[in-house]
Amino acid sequence: MARRRMVYEGKAKILYEGPEPGTLIQFFKDDTTAGNGEKHELIDGKGVLNNRLSEHFMEGLASIGVPTHFIKRLNMREQLVRAVEMIPLEVVVRNVAAGSMSKRLGLEEGAPLPRPIIEFYLKNDDLGDPIVSEEHIIAFGWASQQDLDDMVSLGLRVNDFMSGMMRGVGIRLVDFKIEIGRVFEGDFQRLVVADEISPDSCRLWDIETGQKLDKDVFRRDLGNLADAYTEVARRLGVMPRSNGSNTGPKLVH
Ligand code: C5P
Repeated sequence: MARRRMVYEGKAKILYEGPEPGTLIQFFKDDTTAGNGEKHELIDGKGVLNNRLSEHFMEGLASIGVPTHFIKRLNMREQLVRAVEMIPLEVVVRNVAAGSMSKRLGLEEGAPLPRPIIEFYLKNDDLGDPIVSEEHIIAFGWASQQDLDDMVSLGLRVNDFMSGMMRGVGIRLVDFKIEIGRVFEGDFQRLVVADEISPDSCRLWDIETGQKLDKDVFRRDLGNLADAYTEVARRLGVMPRSNGSNTGPKLVH
C-alpha cells in the first residue's frame, strides 16, 4: 500500500491526507510539550486518551448542533476529520482565573470570574502565541467581524456544553482553548470547531478536592499525566478498559 502523505506535523498531532478529497486523518501522538516546546516528554497512552476524549466532546457538541470538523474515529490514535481552512487564532474561554490570565492580571488562581471571558491568541510559535485584541484581528485581517461574532458564539456554546458535561462528573471546567476553521459550501462559508478538545487544551479541576486533571499536571510536575486523563475518561464512561499504557497489548502504529 502506498505510504500516505503527511500534510502537517504539530507538537501533539499529525495530519495526513484523507481517503477522500476534503478529508484528513488526524493522528494523536504521545508527545507532550509545555512552554512552547521547551519541556517535552513522551507520555505513554496520552494520544490514545486524547483521541477518544476529543471524539467524545466533538460528538457531544454535534448532538446539540455545534458544527465540528469531526467525522469519525478510525482507530486508537486516528480520526477522520473534514479539511478546513484554519483561522490563525486560539480562542480561550475562561470561567475561573488561572494560568496566564492570573499572571497577567494578578488574579489569584481559582477566583471565579464575573462571567465567561473570551480571549484571542495569535497562533505563532516564534512569538509565543501572543494575546491579541479584536482590533488587531480585524485590522490585520486574521478574521472578519462576522467571524469574530461567530467565534464568540461558538466559544460560549462549547463552554456551556462542556461545563455541564464536566459538572455532571464532578469536574469544574476552569478554562479551555479551541481552534476554529472555515468550511466552504458553495458561495457560503461557516465556522466549525476544529483541532481537538482534550485535557491537553482544558483546565479541569475536581470539584470536591481541587485536584488538577489536565495538562497542568505535566506543566507543573504534579504527578502522572496519563493517570489524570484516564480519570477524566473513566468518569465520562469513555475507555473504561485500558488507558493504552503498558498494562495491555503494545500498540502498533
Ligand atoms: O496558558 P493559559 O492560561 O493562557 O491557557 C488557557 C487555556 O488554554 C488552558 O486550558 C490551556 O490548556 C489552553 N491552551 C492550549 N494551548 C495553548 C495555550 C493555552 O490548549 N497554546
